[in-house]
Amino acid sequence: MPVVDIHTHIYPSSFVELLRSRQTVPYIRTFPEDPDSSRLIILPGEDDPSMPSTSRGRPIGPEYHDISQKIAFMDQHLIDISVISLANPWLDFLDPEEAGEAARKINDDVNALCAQYPGRLYAFGTLPLSASADIIVAEIERLTSLEHMRGVIMGTSGLGHGLDDPALDPVYAALEKHNQVIFLHPHYGLPSSVYGPKASEYGHVLPLALGFPLETTIAVTRMLLGGVWDRFTKLNVLLAHSGGTLPFLAGRIESCIKHDGHLKQEGKTERRRDVWDILKSNIYLDAVIYSDVGLKAAVNASGSDRLMFGTDHPFFPPLELDVPEWHSVAANYKAVSSAFNDSDSEANAVLGGNAIRILNL
Ligand code: URA
Ligand code: ZN
Repeated sequence: MPVVDIHTHIYPSSFVELLRSRQTVPYIRTFPEDPDSSRLIILPGEDDPSMPSTSRGRPIGPEYHDISQKIAFMDQHLIDISVISLANPWLDFLDPEEAGEAARKINDDVNALCAQYPGRLYAFGTLPLSASADIIVAEIERLTSLEHMRGVIMGTSGLGHGLDDPALDPVYAALEKHNQVIFLHPHYGLPSSVYGPKASEYGHVLPLALGFPLETTIAVTRMLLGGVWDRFTKLNVLLAHSGGTLPFLAGRIESCIKHDGHLKQEGKTERRRDVWDILKSNIYLDAVIYSDVGLKAAVNASGSDRLMFGTDHPFFPPLELDVPEWHSVAANYKAVSSAFNDSDSEANAVLGGNAIRILNL
């Protein structure tokens, strides 16, 4: 059974040039202390001038845009097929007038990268979310004509007001109509105040380990509370990082809904699809959680037939030089083998079979 990586990113060269042309987050820059190496600064709060340049962003090299390095990484880690996606912050920061054309260019570029390695690469497209809904819908329709596209990657901001914004309904309708999966991925994290005054001493740990998964959990819970899946019963969403904390918190979310007097008064506690139903019919989860503890929660919530292996390449490389096998990838492989030590068929499904079926690879 082939191994498929559904969570693996690329910044095509045109996007790297765009980031190099900018002077504020998101951007790519060098620092006077180390003029030969570039740093990618994308997250809100990671560009504090009082921080040493070594903690501002992360080093960026060709592994972020050179597709032959993606293939070399896949070969090194026994990955047969990758479904590549533009990494955060996608096109969220562009002016509305620029976004439509930028999305067309990025999607054409990524589709062409896939075409260089037939059978090995597919992609999630990028949407021009700062543009108007009709431009976004037009790009969703155009994506159906690009051979290697298998859905779209999206952050949590939607059109600027989150994913429970009714103005997104035409976008959800188009995605549902064309059976395109949304790969929902975090970027914005939590307000930096929650990390406290010592945050700069802790590197990226708090925003990446906690801010990212909580952002995803809140975004998807808002979709649920906003009735997105009551209106779009066939809309499929693949949640990054095994659903953030959704599998662990689903029971609490459901209980809070059932015990909310305001929702009851508005008639919103009845005639709605519950979180367990949605987890098992509309949500897919990646297996990028680095431990069998989290993976088992994901399996219990959505089922092993809805879980798909991923790496998050090129993020989280080994910090040591010349280590060919990445610890982060080994941890995700190990989590699958220990979560399914009694069932090769479930392990194989998570490693590749599910992605082939769900994404029609
Ligand atoms: N950091 C990011 O900004 N994005 C990822 O996908 C992973 C780590
Ligand atoms: Zn990612």
